[in-house]
Amino acid sequence: MTATSQTPSAVSDKNRVLIFDTTLRDGEQCPGATMTLEEKLQVADLLDEMGVDIIEAGFPIASNGDFEAVEAIARRIKNATVAGLARAGMADIDRAGEAVRHARRPRIHTFLSTSPVHMKHKLQKEPDQVLEMVIASVTRARNHVGDVEWSAEDGTRTEHDFLCRCVEAAIKAGATTINIPDTVGYTAPHEYKALFEMVRNRVPNADKAIFSVHCHNDLGMAVANSIAGIEGGARQIECTINGIGERAGNAALEEIVMAIKTRNDIFPYQTGIDSKMLTRASKLVSTVTSFPVQYNKAIVGRNAFAHESGIHQDGMLKNTQTYEIMTPDSVGVKSTSLVMGKHSGRNAFKDKLKHLGYGLSDNQLEDAFVRFKELADRKKVIYDEDIEALVDEKIAHSQDRMKVISLLVVAGTMGPQAATLTLDLDGVHKTVQASGNGPVDAVFNAIKAIVPHEAVLELYQVHAVTQGTDAQAEVSVRLQANGNTFTGKGADPDTLVSSAKAYLSALNKLIAKHERLHPQHGIVAAE
Ligand code: KIV
Ligand code: ZN
Repeated sequence: MTATSQTPSAVSDKNRVLIFDTTLRDGEQCPGATMTLEEKLQVADLLDEMGVDIIEAGFPIASNGDFEAVEAIARRIKNATVAGLARAGMADIDRAGEAVRHARRPRIHTFLSTSPVHMKHKLQKEPDQVLEMVIASVTRARNHVGDVEWSAEDGTRTEHDFLCRCVEAAIKAGATTINIPDTVGYTAPHEYKALFEMVRNRVPNADKAIFSVHCHNDLGMAVANSIAGIEGGARQIECTINGIGERAGNAALEEIVMAIKTRNDIFPYQTGIDSKMLTRASKLVSTVTSFPVQYNKAIVGRNAFAHESGIHQDGMLKNTQTYEIMTPDSVGVKSTSLVMGKHSGRNAFKDKLKHLGYGLSDNQLEDAFVRFKELADRKKVIYDEDIEALVDEKIAHSQDRMKVISLLVVAGTMGPQAATLTLDLDGVHKTVQASGNGPVDAVFNAIKAIVPHEAVLELYQVHAVTQGTDAQAEVSVRLQANGNTFTGKGADPDTLVSSAKAYLSALNKLIAKHERLHPQHGIVAAE
């Protein structure tokens, strides 16, 4: 189902809450969550299909890559408003205006710090100078587009009088949405609600704009604060899939949507989100960012609908309402099913992908089918999760320049553990042998022998995609180099192959960044 998206002006229902997704901007800004252009497009398409009202596609002045991504998203998105972020400077705003220009519904989102601590130490400006900048930046943005959002950065630590003056001035200069972010995750629900009530009561032209919440999760209250802001009169929520974002992250979109849906008796609001797409969106974002979703994460964690204890299982068998406040189906969790085997044909496979929410081109479908057959040769039973891992993995690795060709590992008690690895580096095959303290260490040492680098392994995590000893292993790896973090994921029935894929995926991202900064270098492989 495609949910209909609405622009602020089209929203007549006073309880309709707009969902502004910033996974591709605030989410992508957190260390290690960098996405490629192709990945951003996949995420943006899914957000649009899911019914997100506004997609914040990036920060166009930050880099050429960001600009290109915002522009490409603006050109293709059919329903949602596409926003580009800009600081208060004219160059920022012009770049954002240029990037969103081709969107059906373009928005410029410009922001400026208003709290005493930010004005003094970050901006080194007096409040009156800041007020002038608010007016100038919003006016400039309005020259580009009719839909302008203004944010008072660190709004929750801003003096009320000054906040009201800035909001009034921004609306007068043409801002159609006013965002009061809890930039540092400091506020609490009753305080945030009161803040919106205060601003909406005191600012004379407040009725000319939609108010927005934007909460960070430093104290674990981002979702509760967002909903409290709505109770205080805001009608737009800024959030991210899986709650990814700076530091402890942003408010999680899926939690907000399901809190409103499940407790509509006390939160009588509506969003345009098709909640059945939440699980799919969570998986896609986790795959492309390589950020694992914690098992007990609300709504989309793998244990969110699992009932382990005997008492709970007994209650569930008698009546699911005993322990279930929402159904797995309502968020798109399908009961694990035995789906296909090695005799399944193309059409059945195509149907299954459609049912799982994938719209692949003919070439992508053919490629996925070949890999499905390979998997079916190695694994007796294939579940929905196996097919999702197979397709998601391809999305995550489509731009990789280094790939595993073959791997042979010696493991067990006799030692030394060793790995013989062949990699494809831009079409050239290189083979090495390496040993290590255990098979995983040997595999990683083999990669380092082919592609020497200084990155430090910060995280290595394995989990099984389904049950059974022949389950695919999904490995997450995090590398750290020069203050930057790069994450990678790999899936395969062989844990060591998925480990190699995950390490290479992170290394591919590291090298891509290195090459953006030093375009004259290629992949430097050892001879
Ligand atoms: O957290 C924040 O204040 C932001 C602004 C740019 C809206 O992300
Ligand atoms: Zn933020």
